[in-house]
Amino acid sequence: MNLARLVVVLALMFTFVMTVSAIDKKPFGKTSDGREVFLYTLKNQNGMEVVITNFGGDVVSMKAPDRDGKYADIALGFDTVADYEKQGPYFGALIGRYGNRLAGGKFTLDGKTYQVPTNDGPNALHGGKVGFDKRVWDAKESSDASGQHLHLHYLSKDGEEGFPGNLNADVTYTLDNKNELRIDYLATTDKDTVLNLTNHTYFNLKGQGEGDILEHQIMINADRFTPVDAHLIPTGELKPVEGTPFDLRKAVAIGAHINDDNEQLKLGRGYDHNWVLNTGGKMATAAKVVEPTTGRVLEVLTDQPGIQFYTGNFLDGTAKGKGKVYNYRNGFCLETQHFPDSPNHPNFPTTELKPGQKFKSTTIYRFSTDKKK
Ligand code: BGC
Repeated sequence: MNLARLVVVLALMFTFVMTVSAIDKKPFGKTSDGREVFLYTLKNQNGMEVVITNFGGDVVSMKAPDRDGKYADIALGFDTVADYEKQGPYFGALIGRYGNRLAGGKFTLDGKTYQVPTNDGPNALHGGKVGFDKRVWDAKESSDASGQHLHLHYLSKDGEEGFPGNLNADVTYTLDNKNELRIDYLATTDKDTVLNLTNHTYFNLKGQGEGDILEHQIMINADRFTPVDAHLIPTGELKPVEGTPFDLRKAVAIGAHINDDNEQLKLGRGYDHNWVLNTGGKMATAAKVVEPTTGRVLEVLTDQPGIQFYTGNFLDGTAKGKGKVYNYRNGFCLETQHFPDSPNHPNFPTTELKPGQKFKSTTIYRFSTDKKK
């Protein structure tokens, strides 16, 4: 084959690959202020599918195979954008500007105290009244050899929800052919600010709406966690997990100790705590969850210093979606993050971002299956 022919053949192959792997985009309706939002379906060669909306960057569904190759949707979610707009469980959402709680909605930066709106008793939770999860993100799709990507961008203006600085947030979701959903976060600011970005997907590896998650086996790669007070604000202590129900270093059923007579479990109504990862800010396995009946395995890798393991203790059957009712502990979240309320704890890794700096972080949800024991 001469060179010209080879070039034509390669160009045709390239066009073919790009055509078959184009991301499906369809309307998801309008927000209450009339803005049109979309659903983007990322697919891989194995049959995995992840649907994301540019409203809040929410992962709406995630289809993953069990050990017999049977696919199920393993992410809790809603049917309409109105539900995502009105309801508060943060299903699948991108969280910002500050993930988890800020005590009293206050923090001090460069000697100035900021008061942000409170939305969780006395505290600010997940970015305040209108966090990143309730914003319309600009979206752009692309595909290449590494997988299918959805690029999302949001400019959080100086003063929005009380936070200083124009913050440009870029989040890219990538689904690859190794059954990994990768989330790359990038942020810059033009004034000193604080930030803590995460994703709030609720998983049920049996299938969404298929009951509680107590039989799932969990491992968290952490020797310490951050205990909380009655309002779920960290006390500042980094407490060893040794000898407590928070010792998840070896895989154990989520339900094995969740109802133990333990003060921290009572305060969280179950697990709702930040673990101090042993990975020292390096990209590595933070947590692994195995669902014994289906064999589905989720591994979470991150370069963040912490992970919030939340067992859906506030789900009470009010939230309904995708033909299911989401009851108490019907989903779990593994939110990779900096520690809650960090700006008020100088001993925690800093969440400050300054002009000229780039916040960059990656989290991977890796799916596989386990053989029957
Ligand atoms: C928090 C929970 C909160 C939930 C909201 C989690 O990240 O840790 O306390 O109730 O988000 O859905």
